[in-house]
Amino acid sequence: MSDGSPFAGQRPVWLDDKTKSVMDHAIAREQSLSHLLMTYIVTGLVFMLLPGTFLGVWNLIKISNQEEADSISPAWIQAHGHAQLFGWVGTFILGIGFYSIPKLRKLKPFALWEGWLCWALWVAGVTIRWLSNIYSWQWRVLMPSSAALEVLAFLIFFQAVASHRPSRGVPKPWESWIFVVIAATLGLLASLALNLGASIQMALHASSPAFSHEFDQRYLIVSTWGFLVPMVWGFSSRWLPVFMGLQPLRGSWLLVAAGLNTLGVVAGFLERFTTASVLLLGGAVMAVLAIRFFEPTAKAAKTINVHASFPVFIRIAYGWLLLAASLSIWASRAGEAPGIWGASRHALTVGFIAAMVFSVGQRILPSFCGMRVLWSPRLMLVMLVLLMTGCTLRVASEILAYQNYAAWAWNVLPVSALIELTAVTLFAVNLIVTFLRPSVAVTTPLSMTTE
Ligand code: HEM
Repeated sequence: MSDGSPFAGQRPVWLDDKTKSVMDHAIAREQSLSHLLMTYIVTGLVFMLLPGTFLGVWNLIKISNQEEADSISPAWIQAHGHAQLFGWVGTFILGIGFYSIPKLRKLKPFALWEGWLCWALWVAGVTIRWLSNIYSWQWRVLMPSSAALEVLAFLIFFQAVASHRPSRGVPKPWESWIFVVIAATLGLLASLALNLGASIQMALHASSPAFSHEFDQRYLIVSTWGFLVPMVWGFSSRWLPVFMGLQPLRGSWLLVAAGLNTLGVVAGFLERFTTASVLLLGGAVMAVLAIRFFEPTAKAAKTINVHASFPVFIRIAYGWLLLAASLSIWASRAGEAPGIWGASRHALTVGFIAAMVFSVGQRILPSFCGMRVLWSPRLMLVMLVLLMTGCTLRVASEILAYQNYAAWAWNVLPVSALIELTAVTLFAVNLIVTFLRPSVAVTTPLSMTTE
Protein backbone atom coordinates (compact mmCIF):
# COMPACT_ATOMS: atom_id res chain seq x y z
CA MET A 1 0.00 0.00 0.00
CA SER A 2 1.23 3.50 -0.78
CA ASP A 3 2.35 5.67 2.16
CA GLY A 4 1.56 8.81 0.15
CA SER A 5 5.25 9.62 -0.26
CA PRO A 6 6.59 10.48 -3.71
CA PHE A 7 9.14 7.75 -3.17
CA ALA A 8 6.56 5.09 -2.34
CA GLY A 9 7.07 3.43 -5.72
CA GLN A 10 10.66 2.71 -4.70
CA ARG A 11 9.77 0.36 -1.84
CA PRO A 12 8.37 -2.86 -3.33
CA VAL A 13 5.99 -4.72 -0.99
CA TRP A 14 7.74 -8.11 -1.16
CA LEU A 15 10.94 -6.94 0.62
CA ASP A 16 11.84 -8.36 4.04
CA ASP A 17 11.45 -6.17 7.14
CA LYS A 18 15.16 -5.29 7.48
CA THR A 19 15.45 -4.15 3.85
CA LYS A 20 12.18 -2.23 4.19
CA SER A 21 13.46 -0.41 7.24
CA VAL A 22 16.73 0.50 5.43
CA MET A 23 14.70 1.79 2.49
CA ASP A 24 12.32 3.72 4.75
CA HIS A 25 15.35 5.36 6.35
CA ALA A 26 16.77 6.28 2.93
CA ILE A 27 13.40 7.68 1.84
CA ALA A 28 13.06 9.75 5.04
CA ARG A 29 16.59 11.11 4.53
CA GLU A 30 15.81 12.00 0.91
CA GLN A 31 12.66 13.84 1.98
CA SER A 32 14.55 15.81 4.65
CA LEU A 33 17.27 16.71 2.14
CA SER A 34 14.68 17.89 -0.38
CA HIS A 35 13.05 20.00 2.33
CA LEU A 36 16.41 21.54 3.21
CA LEU A 37 17.15 22.27 -0.45
CA MET A 38 13.71 23.79 -1.02
CA THR A 39 14.30 26.14 1.93
CA TYR A 40 17.63 27.27 0.44
CA ILE A 41 16.02 27.81 -2.97
CA VAL A 42 13.03 29.80 -1.71
CA THR A 43 15.39 31.93 0.43
CA GLY A 44 17.57 32.55 -2.64
CA LEU A 45 14.49 33.58 -4.63
CA VAL A 46 13.52 36.12 -1.96
CA PHE A 47 17.02 37.67 -2.06
CA MET A 48 16.94 37.66 -5.86
CA LEU A 49 13.61 39.47 -6.06
CA LEU A 50 13.70 42.23 -3.45
CA PRO A 51 17.16 43.09 -2.06
CA GLY A 52 18.72 42.05 -5.40
CA THR A 53 16.74 42.80 -8.54
CA PHE A 54 14.24 45.33 -7.21
CA LEU A 55 17.06 47.42 -5.74
CA GLY A 56 19.05 47.02 -9.00
CA VAL A 57 16.08 48.31 -11.01
CA TRP A 58 15.62 51.20 -8.57
CA ASN A 59 19.31 52.12 -8.86
CA LEU A 60 19.23 51.96 -12.64
CA ILE A 61 16.11 54.09 -12.93
CA LYS A 62 17.72 56.73 -10.69
CA ILE A 63 20.98 56.63 -12.70
CA SER A 64 19.00 56.99 -15.95
CA ASN A 65 16.97 59.92 -14.61
CA GLN A 66 20.15 61.76 -13.59
CA GLU A 67 21.99 60.59 -16.75
CA GLU A 68 25.07 60.09 -14.57
CA ALA A 69 26.71 56.71 -13.79
CA ASP A 70 27.91 57.72 -10.30
CA SER A 71 24.76 59.56 -9.22
CA ILE A 72 23.79 57.02 -6.56
CA SER A 73 25.42 55.87 -3.36
CA PRO A 74 28.10 53.17 -3.83
CA ALA A 75 26.71 51.47 -0.69
CA TRP A 76 23.36 50.95 -2.46
CA ILE A 77 25.07 49.53 -5.56
CA GLN A 78 27.15 47.21 -3.38
CA ALA A 79 24.03 46.16 -1.43
CA HIS A 80 22.46 45.09 -4.75
CA GLY A 81 25.62 43.26 -5.92
CA HIS A 82 26.08 41.39 -2.62
CA ALA A 83 22.40 40.38 -2.48
CA GLN A 84 22.58 38.98 -6.03
CA LEU A 85 25.95 37.22 -5.81
CA PHE A 86 25.70 35.84 -2.28
CA GLY A 87 22.05 36.21 -1.24
CA TRP A 88 20.67 34.67 -4.42
CA VAL A 89 23.27 32.65 -6.37
CA GLY A 90 25.38 31.82 -3.28
CA THR A 91 22.35 30.50 -1.37
CA PHE A 92 21.33 28.38 -4.39
CA ILE A 93 24.87 26.97 -4.63
CA LEU A 94 25.09 26.10 -0.93
CA GLY A 95 21.70 24.33 -1.08
CA ILE A 96 22.51 22.43 -4.27
CA GLY A 97 25.96 21.59 -2.85
CA PHE A 98 24.46 20.12 0.34
CA TYR A 99 21.97 18.12 -1.71
CA SER A 100 24.14 16.88 -4.54
CA ILE A 101 27.87 16.80 -3.67
CA PRO A 102 27.69 13.93 -1.15
CA LYS A 103 25.54 11.95 -3.63
CA LEU A 104 27.72 12.65 -6.66
CA ARG A 105 30.88 11.76 -4.70
CA LYS A 106 29.15 8.85 -2.94
CA LEU A 107 30.21 10.26 0.44
CA LYS A 108 28.89 9.40 3.87
CA PRO A 109 25.82 11.54 4.69
CA PHE A 110 26.35 14.69 6.76
CA ALA A 111 24.21 15.52 9.81
CA LEU A 112 21.18 17.50 8.66
CA TRP A 113 21.47 20.04 11.50
CA GLU A 114 24.70 21.23 9.83
CA GLY A 115 22.69 22.17 6.74
CA TRP A 116 20.13 24.07 8.83
CA LEU A 117 22.75 25.85 10.95
CA CYS A 118 24.64 26.90 7.83
CA TRP A 119 21.37 28.26 6.36
CA ALA A 120 20.55 30.28 9.50
CA LEU A 121 24.05 31.84 9.74
CA TRP A 122 24.24 32.55 6.03
CA VAL A 123 20.81 34.20 5.87
CA ALA A 124 21.57 36.28 8.96
CA GLY A 125 24.94 37.35 7.47
CA VAL A 126 23.59 38.35 4.06
CA THR A 127 20.52 40.11 5.51
CA ILE A 128 22.56 42.13 8.02
CA ARG A 129 24.98 43.10 5.25
CA TRP A 130 22.15 44.43 3.08
CA LEU A 131 20.51 46.35 5.93
CA SER A 132 23.74 47.97 7.07
CA ASN A 133 24.60 49.00 3.48
CA ILE A 134 21.18 50.55 3.00
CA TYR A 135 20.45 52.10 6.43
CA SER A 136 24.02 52.67 7.73
CA TRP A 137 22.73 51.96 11.26
CA GLN A 138 25.56 50.70 13.56
CA TRP A 139 27.40 49.64 10.41
CA ARG A 140 30.83 49.64 12.09
CA VAL A 141 29.68 46.68 14.17
CA LEU A 142 27.19 45.12 11.79
CA MET A 143 29.30 44.95 8.60
CA PRO A 144 32.16 42.92 10.16
CA SER A 145 29.63 40.79 12.08
CA SER A 146 27.74 39.94 8.91
CA ALA A 147 30.98 39.06 7.11
CA ALA A 148 32.00 36.82 10.05
CA LEU A 149 28.62 35.04 9.98
CA GLU A 150 29.06 34.34 6.27
CA VAL A 151 32.55 32.88 6.84
CA LEU A 152 31.22 30.71 9.66
CA ALA A 153 28.36 29.43 7.49
CA PHE A 154 30.83 28.59 4.74
CA LEU A 155 33.08 26.63 7.13
CA ILE A 156 30.11 24.54 8.27
CA PHE A 157 29.17 23.87 4.64
CA PHE A 158 32.73 22.98 3.74
CA GLN A 159 33.29 20.51 6.52
CA ALA A 160 29.85 18.93 5.92
CA VAL A 161 30.25 18.24 2.21
CA ALA A 162 34.00 18.01 1.79
CA SER A 163 35.44 16.20 4.76
CA HIS A 164 33.42 12.97 4.74
CA ARG A 165 35.12 9.83 3.57
CA PRO A 166 33.49 7.69 0.83
CA SER A 167 30.67 5.58 2.25
CA ARG A 168 32.00 2.22 1.05
CA GLY A 169 34.69 0.53 -1.01
CA VAL A 170 37.69 2.08 -2.75
CA PRO A 171 37.42 5.88 -3.12
CA LYS A 172 36.42 7.01 -6.63
CA PRO A 173 39.24 8.82 -8.45
CA TRP A 174 38.55 12.53 -8.71
CA GLU A 175 37.02 13.59 -12.02
CA SER A 176 37.96 16.91 -13.60
CA TRP A 177 34.67 18.61 -12.65
CA ILE A 178 35.51 18.06 -8.98
CA PHE A 179 38.77 19.99 -9.29
CA VAL A 180 36.87 22.86 -10.89
CA VAL A 181 34.24 22.88 -8.13
CA ILE A 182 37.09 22.87 -5.57
CA ALA A 183 38.69 25.86 -7.35
CA ALA A 184 35.31 27.64 -7.21
CA THR A 185 34.90 26.78 -3.52
CA LEU A 186 38.32 28.29 -2.82
CA GLY A 187 37.16 31.34 -4.80
CA LEU A 188 34.14 31.59 -2.51
CA LEU A 189 36.36 31.28 0.57
CA ALA A 190 38.70 33.97 -0.81
CA SER A 191 35.72 36.28 -1.51
CA LEU A 192 34.35 35.82 1.99
CA ALA A 193 37.75 36.32 3.61
CA LEU A 194 38.35 39.51 1.58
CA ASN A 195 34.89 40.73 2.53
CA LEU A 196 35.65 40.13 6.21
CA GLY A 197 39.08 41.79 6.07
CA ALA A 198 37.77 44.81 4.13
CA SER A 199 34.73 45.17 6.43
CA ILE A 200 37.00 45.30 9.49
CA GLN A 201 39.24 47.86 7.75
CA MET A 202 36.19 49.92 6.83
CA ALA A 203 34.78 49.77 10.35
CA LEU A 204 38.09 51.13 11.70
CA HIS A 205 38.92 53.75 9.09
CA ALA A 206 36.11 54.58 6.63
CA SER A 207 33.34 57.16 6.88
CA SER A 208 30.57 55.17 5.17
CA PRO A 209 29.65 51.47 4.74
CA ALA A 210 30.96 51.12 1.17
CA PHE A 211 34.18 49.62 -0.18
CA SER A 212 36.43 52.03 -2.06
CA HIS A 213 35.96 51.86 -5.86
CA GLU A 214 39.49 50.44 -6.33
CA PHE A 215 39.03 47.63 -3.82
CA ASP A 216 35.51 46.88 -5.07
CA GLN A 217 36.73 46.35 -8.68
CA ARG A 218 39.35 43.83 -7.50
CA TYR A 219 37.00 42.14 -5.06
CA LEU A 220 34.30 41.71 -7.74
CA ILE A 221 36.76 39.89 -10.03
CA VAL A 222 37.35 37.36 -7.25
CA SER A 223 33.67 36.89 -6.41
CA THR A 224 32.42 36.66 -10.02
CA TRP A 225 35.25 35.09 -12.06
CA GLY A 226 36.90 33.38 -9.10
CA PHE A 227 33.79 31.88 -7.50
CA LEU A 228 30.66 31.87 -9.68
CA VAL A 229 32.20 31.22 -13.10
CA PRO A 230 34.17 28.05 -12.17
CA MET A 231 31.22 26.83 -10.08
CA VAL A 232 29.00 27.02 -13.17
CA TRP A 233 31.70 25.32 -15.27
CA GLY A 234 32.07 22.51 -12.72
CA PHE A 235 28.37 21.67 -12.60
CA SER A 236 28.03 22.27 -16.37
CA SER A 237 30.70 19.70 -17.10
CA ARG A 238 29.07 17.21 -14.72
CA TRP A 239 25.49 17.54 -15.95
CA LEU A 240 25.31 19.15 -19.40
CA PRO A 241 27.03 16.43 -21.47
CA VAL A 242 24.11 14.21 -20.38
CA PHE A 243 21.33 16.79 -20.52
CA MET A 244 22.42 18.14 -23.93
CA GLY A 245 23.69 14.86 -25.44
CA LEU A 246 27.17 16.38 -25.94
CA GLN A 247 30.26 14.44 -26.93
CA PRO A 248 32.43 13.24 -24.01
CA LEU A 249 34.02 15.99 -21.93
CA ARG A 250 37.68 16.86 -22.59
CA GLY A 251 38.68 16.70 -18.93
CA SER A 252 42.26 17.92 -19.29
CA TRP A 253 41.12 20.95 -21.34
CA LEU A 254 38.68 21.81 -18.58
CA LEU A 255 41.55 21.81 -16.09
CA VAL A 256 43.56 24.13 -18.37
CA ALA A 257 40.49 26.40 -18.52
CA ALA A 258 40.29 26.49 -14.71
CA GLY A 259 44.07 27.17 -14.51
CA LEU A 260 43.89 30.12 -16.94
CA ASN A 261 40.84 31.46 -15.14
CA THR A 262 42.60 31.29 -11.76
CA LEU A 263 45.65 33.11 -13.16
CA GLY A 264 43.27 35.73 -14.61
CA VAL A 265 41.63 36.25 -11.23
CA VAL A 266 44.99 36.64 -9.50
CA ALA A 267 46.15 39.12 -12.18
CA GLY A 268 42.88 41.05 -11.82
CA PHE A 269 43.25 41.20 -8.06
CA LEU A 270 46.75 42.63 -8.60
CA GLU A 271 45.19 45.27 -10.89
CA ARG A 272 46.78 43.91 -14.07
CA PHE A 273 43.43 44.29 -15.78
CA THR A 274 44.43 43.73 -19.43
CA THR A 275 46.48 40.62 -18.64
CA ALA A 276 43.63 39.42 -16.44
CA SER A 277 41.01 39.93 -19.15
CA VAL A 278 43.06 38.09 -21.78
CA LEU A 279 43.59 35.15 -19.40
CA LEU A 280 39.88 35.10 -18.48
CA LEU A 281 38.92 35.06 -22.16
CA GLY A 282 41.44 32.25 -22.78
CA GLY A 283 39.95 30.26 -19.89
CA ALA A 284 36.39 30.80 -21.14
CA VAL A 285 37.32 29.68 -24.68
CA MET A 286 39.00 26.55 -23.26
CA ALA A 287 35.95 25.77 -21.11
CA VAL A 288 33.65 26.02 -24.14
CA LEU A 289 35.97 23.74 -26.14
CA ALA A 290 36.29 21.29 -23.23
CA ILE A 291 32.55 20.88 -22.69
CA ARG A 292 32.01 20.83 -26.49
CA PHE A 293 28.88 22.98 -26.62
CA PHE A 294 29.29 23.98 -30.26
CA GLU A 295 30.29 20.59 -31.72
CA PRO A 296 27.85 18.11 -33.26
CA THR A 297 26.06 16.27 -30.46
CA ALA A 298 26.47 12.55 -29.72
CA LYS A 299 22.87 11.96 -28.60
CA ALA A 300 19.53 13.73 -28.46
CA ALA A 301 19.18 16.26 -25.61
CA LYS A 302 17.11 15.17 -22.58
CA THR A 303 14.53 17.94 -22.44
CA ILE A 304 11.67 16.05 -20.85
CA ASN A 305 9.75 18.29 -18.40
CA VAL A 306 11.56 21.45 -19.54
CA HIS A 307 11.16 23.53 -22.68
CA ALA A 308 12.79 21.95 -25.73
CA SER A 309 14.78 25.15 -26.32
CA PHE A 310 16.86 24.42 -23.16
CA PRO A 311 20.10 23.56 -25.11
CA VAL A 312 19.80 26.74 -27.20
CA PHE A 313 19.74 28.96 -24.11
CA ILE A 314 22.72 27.16 -22.58
CA ARG A 315 24.69 27.87 -25.76
CA ILE A 316 23.56 31.53 -25.73
CA ALA A 317 24.65 31.81 -22.08
CA TYR A 318 28.15 30.57 -22.95
CA GLY A 319 28.16 33.12 -25.80
CA TRP A 320 27.54 35.82 -23.14
CA LEU A 321 30.47 34.47 -21.13
CA LEU A 322 32.79 34.97 -24.10
CA LEU A 323 31.34 38.45 -24.74
CA ALA A 324 31.77 39.43 -21.06
CA ALA A 325 35.48 38.52 -21.15
CA SER A 326 35.96 40.31 -24.49
CA LEU A 327 34.26 43.46 -23.15
CA SER A 328 36.57 43.42 -20.13
CA ILE A 329 39.59 43.53 -22.49
CA TRP A 330 38.07 46.59 -24.16
CA ALA A 331 37.27 48.19 -20.77
CA SER A 332 40.82 47.62 -19.52
CA ARG A 333 42.23 49.42 -22.60
CA ALA A 334 39.71 52.28 -22.57
CA GLY A 335 40.83 54.13 -19.41
CA GLU A 336 37.93 55.40 -17.25
CA ALA A 337 35.13 53.30 -18.71
CA PRO A 338 32.31 52.66 -16.21
CA GLY A 339 29.87 51.84 -19.04
CA ILE A 340 32.08 49.14 -20.55
CA TRP A 341 32.97 47.63 -17.15
CA GLY A 342 29.28 47.70 -16.16
CA ALA A 343 28.28 46.13 -19.50
CA SER A 344 30.92 43.42 -19.10
CA ARG A 345 29.74 42.75 -15.52
CA HIS A 346 26.11 42.37 -16.50
CA ALA A 347 26.94 40.34 -19.63
CA LEU A 348 28.54 37.97 -17.10
CA THR A 349 26.05 38.13 -14.22
CA VAL A 350 22.78 38.34 -16.18
CA GLY A 351 23.74 36.91 -19.61
CA PHE A 352 25.80 34.00 -18.29
CA ILE A 353 25.19 33.33 -14.60
CA ALA A 354 21.48 34.19 -14.33
CA ALA A 355 20.73 32.46 -17.66
CA MET A 356 22.58 29.31 -16.51
CA VAL A 357 20.83 29.30 -13.13
CA PHE A 358 17.46 29.80 -14.81
CA SER A 359 18.03 27.09 -17.44
CA VAL A 360 19.76 24.40 -15.37
CA GLY A 361 17.78 25.33 -12.25
CA GLN A 362 14.45 24.63 -13.92
CA ARG A 363 15.88 21.36 -15.26
CA ILE A 364 17.18 19.94 -11.96
CA LEU A 365 15.46 21.69 -9.04
CA PRO A 366 11.93 20.28 -9.49
CA SER A 367 13.24 16.71 -9.26
CA PHE A 368 15.77 17.45 -6.50
CA CYS A 369 13.05 19.15 -4.45
CA GLY A 370 10.88 16.09 -3.85
CA MET A 371 10.48 14.62 -7.35
CA ARG A 372 8.33 17.34 -8.84
CA VAL A 373 7.76 18.37 -12.43
CA LEU A 374 8.27 21.95 -13.61
CA TRP A 375 4.92 23.73 -13.59
CA SER A 376 5.20 25.48 -16.96
CA PRO A 377 7.89 24.78 -19.60
CA ARG A 378 6.22 27.47 -21.74
CA LEU A 379 6.74 30.06 -18.99
CA MET A 380 10.38 28.92 -18.88
CA LEU A 381 10.69 29.83 -22.57
CA VAL A 382 8.98 33.20 -22.08
CA MET A 383 11.20 34.15 -19.15
CA LEU A 384 14.41 33.11 -20.88
CA VAL A 385 13.47 35.13 -23.99
CA LEU A 386 12.71 38.14 -21.76
CA LEU A 387 15.97 37.72 -19.83
CA MET A 388 18.03 37.60 -23.01
CA THR A 389 16.16 40.57 -24.50
CA GLY A 390 16.59 42.64 -21.32
CA CYS A 391 20.26 41.71 -21.09
CA THR A 392 20.95 42.62 -24.74
CA LEU A 393 19.28 46.02 -24.31
CA ARG A 394 21.07 46.60 -21.00
CA VAL A 395 24.58 45.71 -22.18
CA ALA A 396 24.29 47.68 -25.43
CA SER A 397 22.66 50.78 -23.95
CA GLU A 398 24.93 50.88 -20.87
CA ILE A 399 27.93 51.33 -23.17
CA LEU A 400 26.15 53.87 -25.36
CA ALA A 401 24.73 55.91 -22.45
CA TYR A 402 27.44 55.79 -19.76
CA GLN A 403 30.24 56.38 -22.29
CA ASN A 404 28.36 59.36 -23.84
CA TYR A 405 28.14 57.72 -27.27
CA ALA A 406 24.33 58.19 -27.62
CA ALA A 407 22.04 60.17 -25.31
CA TRP A 408 18.88 58.29 -26.39
CA ALA A 409 20.30 55.13 -24.79
CA TRP A 410 19.51 56.56 -21.30
CA ASN A 411 15.83 55.98 -22.14
CA VAL A 412 16.42 52.34 -23.02
CA LEU A 413 18.08 51.44 -19.69
CA PRO A 414 14.91 51.57 -17.51
CA VAL A 415 13.05 49.52 -20.13
CA SER A 416 15.81 46.88 -20.03
CA ALA A 417 15.59 46.83 -16.22
CA LEU A 418 11.83 46.27 -16.24
CA ILE A 419 12.11 43.48 -18.81
CA GLU A 420 14.77 41.75 -16.64
CA LEU A 421 12.63 42.25 -13.53
CA THR A 422 9.70 40.56 -15.31
CA ALA A 423 11.96 37.65 -16.31
CA VAL A 424 13.26 37.02 -12.78
CA THR A 425 9.75 37.31 -11.35
CA LEU A 426 8.46 34.69 -13.80
CA PHE A 427 11.34 32.39 -12.84
CA ALA A 428 10.39 32.71 -9.17
CA VAL A 429 6.70 32.12 -9.95
CA ASN A 430 7.46 29.02 -12.02
CA LEU A 431 9.59 27.48 -9.26
CA ILE A 432 7.29 28.38 -6.38
CA VAL A 433 4.18 27.02 -8.12
CA THR A 434 6.21 23.89 -8.93
CA PHE A 435 7.10 23.47 -5.22
CA LEU A 436 3.45 23.94 -4.21
CA ARG A 437 2.28 21.19 -6.55
CA PRO A 438 2.29 17.55 -5.43
CA SER A 439 5.25 15.28 -6.11
CA VAL A 440 5.09 12.59 -8.74
CA ALA A 441 5.58 8.93 -7.75
CA VAL A 442 8.91 7.65 -9.03
CA THR A 443 10.02 4.23 -10.14
CA THR A 444 13.59 5.22 -11.03
CA PRO A 445 16.34 5.36 -8.37
CA LEU A 446 17.00 9.00 -7.48
CA SER A 447 20.65 8.77 -8.37
CA MET A 448 19.61 8.17 -11.98
CA THR A 449 17.63 11.37 -12.40
CA THR A 450 20.77 13.28 -13.29
CA GLU A 451 22.57 10.51 -15.14
C1 HEM B 1 17.09 43.48 -13.32
C2 HEM B 1 18.34 43.18 -13.37
C3 HEM B 1 19.46 44.06 -12.87
C4 HEM B 1 19.56 45.42 -12.80
C5 HEM B 1 18.54 46.45 -13.27
C6 HEM B 1 20.84 45.75 -12.24
C7 HEM B 1 21.32 47.02 -12.01
C8 HEM B 1 22.58 47.34 -11.56
C9 HEM B 1 23.13 48.66 -11.47
C10 HEM B 1 22.41 49.95 -11.84
C11 HEM B 1 24.40 48.56 -11.01
C12 HEM B 1 25.38 49.73 -10.76
C13 HEM B 1 26.57 49.67 -11.72
C14 HEM B 1 26.17 49.86 -13.15
O1 HEM B 1 25.46 50.82 -13.44
O2 HEM B 1 26.52 48.99 -13.97
C15 HEM B 1 24.65 47.16 -10.78
C16 HEM B 1 25.82 46.64 -10.28
C17 HEM B 1 26.01 45.31 -10.03
N1 HEM B 1 25.15 44.26 -10.30
FE1 HEM B 1 23.33 44.42 -11.15
N2 HEM B 1 21.49 44.57 -11.96
C18 HEM B 1 20.68 43.52 -12.34
C19 HEM B 1 20.95 42.18 -12.25
C20 HEM B 1 22.06 41.65 -11.63
C21 HEM B 1 22.31 40.26 -11.43
C22 HEM B 1 21.39 39.12 -11.86
C23 HEM B 1 23.49 40.17 -10.78
C24 HEM B 1 24.22 38.94 -10.30
C25 HEM B 1 23.82 37.71 -10.39
C26 HEM B 1 24.01 41.49 -10.59
C27 HEM B 1 25.20 41.82 -9.99
C28 HEM B 1 25.72 43.09 -9.89
C29 HEM B 1 27.02 43.38 -9.33
C30 HEM B 1 27.99 42.38 -8.75
C31 HEM B 1 27.19 44.76 -9.41
C32 HEM B 1 28.40 45.58 -8.94
C33 HEM B 1 28.21 45.94 -7.50
C34 HEM B 1 29.38 46.72 -6.97
O3 HEM B 1 29.80 47.69 -7.63
O4 HEM B 1 29.88 46.33 -5.92
N3 HEM B 1 23.11 42.38 -11.12
N4 HEM B 1 23.53 46.44 -11.13
